[in-house]
Amino acid sequence: MAAGKGTRMKSNLPKVLHKAAGRTMLGQVWHEVRAAGIDNCVIVVGHGAEQVQASLAGEPGCRFALQMPQLGTGHCVQQALPQILPQTQAVLILCGDTPLLRAQTINAMYQRYAASQQKDNQPLAGLLLTTILDNPHGYGRIVRNNDGSVTAIVEEKDASAEQRQIREINAGAYIFNYAALQSALARLDNNNAQGEYYLTDVISLLAADGQRLDTLPAADPLETTGVNDRVQLAAAAAELFRRKAEELMLAGVTIINPVSCCIEMDVQVGADTIIYPNCQLRGQTSIGSGCVIDSDCLITDSQIGNDCTITKSVLNQATIGDRANIGPFAYLRPGANLAEDVKVGDFAELKNARIGRGSKIPHLSYIGDAEVGENVNIGCGTITCNYDGVNKHLTKIGNNVFVGSNSNLVAPVEVQDDAFIAAGSTITKQVGAGALAVERSPQREIANWGREKSPKALAAIKSSPKQD
Ligand code: UD1
Ligand code: MG
Repeated sequence: MAAGKGTRMKSNLPKVLHKAAGRTMLGQVWHEVRAAGIDNCVIVVGHGAEQVQASLAGEPGCRFALQMPQLGTGHCVQQALPQILPQTQAVLILCGDTPLLRAQTINAMYQRYAASQQKDNQPLAGLLLTTILDNPHGYGRIVRNNDGSVTAIVEEKDASAEQRQIREINAGAYIFNYAALQSALARLDNNNAQGEYYLTDVISLLAADGQRLDTLPAADPLETTGVNDRVQLAAAAAELFRRKAEELMLAGVTIINPVSCCIEMDVQVGADTIIYPNCQLRGQTSIGSGCVIDSDCLITDSQIGNDCTITKSVLNQATIGDRANIGPFAYLRPGANLAEDVKVGDFAELKNARIGRGSKIPHLSYIGDAEVGENVNIGCGTITCNYDGVNKHLTKIGNNVFVGSNSNLVAPVEVQDDAFIAAGSTITKQVGAGALAVERSPQREIANWGREKSPKALAAIKSSPKQD
C-alpha cells in the first residue's frame, strides 16, 4: 500500500518516497519483500503515482495498481485485488511506511499461516502482526474477546477511552486467505471517524463470519514502527543506521563511534577497514578492505579500493584505486578516477579527471577535465584552466611529468611524457616529450632600490598628520 499522501509529513513528496538511511521507505520495504523470496507483488500507487512507480522502475516481480482517489487502506487493497489470482494461497499485505519490518518477520508470518493451512481443522483466514507498545498512540488497537481471540482492530480516532488503554497494536502487516479477503473487502463501509474504507475492518467482518484469525507478535517491537511524520522518520532512520553499523561490525569493520556515523543501507565496506567518527557514507558507495576512513568524510556513490586512507574529505561519484591517500580537505567530484598509489592532498579539487598510478597532487590544485599519466608530480597551486567561458576543454599530461608550483595549464593543451613545467608558468601550447617549458618574464634586478627609496618614504611618513 503506497498510494497515500502522507498528510502528516507536510511534504510535497509522497510519504513512501521519503528516505531513511539512503533508501525510500517503499524501497526498503520492497528490499525486505524481495529478501523474503517474494517475486510477485502488486504495489498500489495513487498520490504522486508516477513518481512512486518510477522509484521502483525496472524492479523484477512488481506490478502496479492505481488507487484514485485514495479512500483508505481497504479501498487501496480493493484496487489491487483484480491483479491477484484467486488461486493465490496467501495474500500478504504490507504498508509502504513501515521501513523497519524485516524479511525474517515476513517469513515467520508466512510459515505460521502456511502451517495452519496444512494442519489445522479450521485453517486461519487471516494472520496479523502485532506488538505491545508502551506508547501505542496513533496505531490501531487489537480488540480481543474473553477467550483471547481477535475480534476487531479499532483505529485511534474511533477508539473509546477504554479501547485506547489497549497497548497491543496492529503493525499493518497481514496475510489473508484470498476468498476471505475478497468477501470482507466487498462489505467494507466508511462509517468511521475518518470517513475511509479501513482495511482493518476486514478483521471484525471475518471474526463475525466465524472465521479463524490469529496474531503473530513481532520479535522486535521496533519492526512495527509506522512512519507517519518526520519525527518517526528520523527514529526509523536511526534504527536502520544502527542495524547497518552492526551488520558491518559483525562482518569485520571497525567503527570507532557508530552513533556518530551515518552509513546508508546500500553501502559496502570490506573487512579490516576502520571508520573514524563523524563519517557519512552514502548511496551506492563501496569501500575495500584495510582502509582507514578518518574522521569527517562525506563519501557518496564512490568506489574505493583496498588499503586507502581518506581523511576529512568530500567524495562524490569518484573512483579510487588501491592504496590511495586522500586528504585532509580534498574534494573529489564526479568523474575523478584515481589509479593505484595516488596521493591527493589538502585543498585539491578534482573533477572528471583520470590520474595515473603513483601520481601526486599534494596541495592547493584544481584538476578538471584532465588525463594525467603515471608518476606525475603536480606542484602546489597548479590549475587546469578548463573553461573558456563557453566550453570545457581537456588537459593531457603524459607519464613522469613534473609540473612546477603555481602553474596554469590552459586547455586544450598537452604536456607529453617526461616533460618539466617551470614553476609559475602559464602553459598554452603543447610541451614536447622530455622538454622543459618556462613561461614567465625574466627576473629584473634594480640595485640599491631599498636604500634610495627609503629616505623619501620616511619623509612622507613623518609629514603625514597623526591619526588616532
Ligand atoms: C494504519 C492502520 C493501523 C496500523 C498502522 C500501522 C488502517 C485503517 N490503519 O494506520 O491500524 O496500526 O497502519 O502503521 O489501515 N494508503 C494507501 N491508500 C489509502 C490510504 C493509505 O495506499 O487510501 C497506504 C499509505 O500510503 C501507507 C499505508 O497505506 O503506506 C498506511 O496508511 P496510513 O495512512 O499511514 O495508515 P495509519 O494511519 O498509519
Ligand atoms: Mg502509517
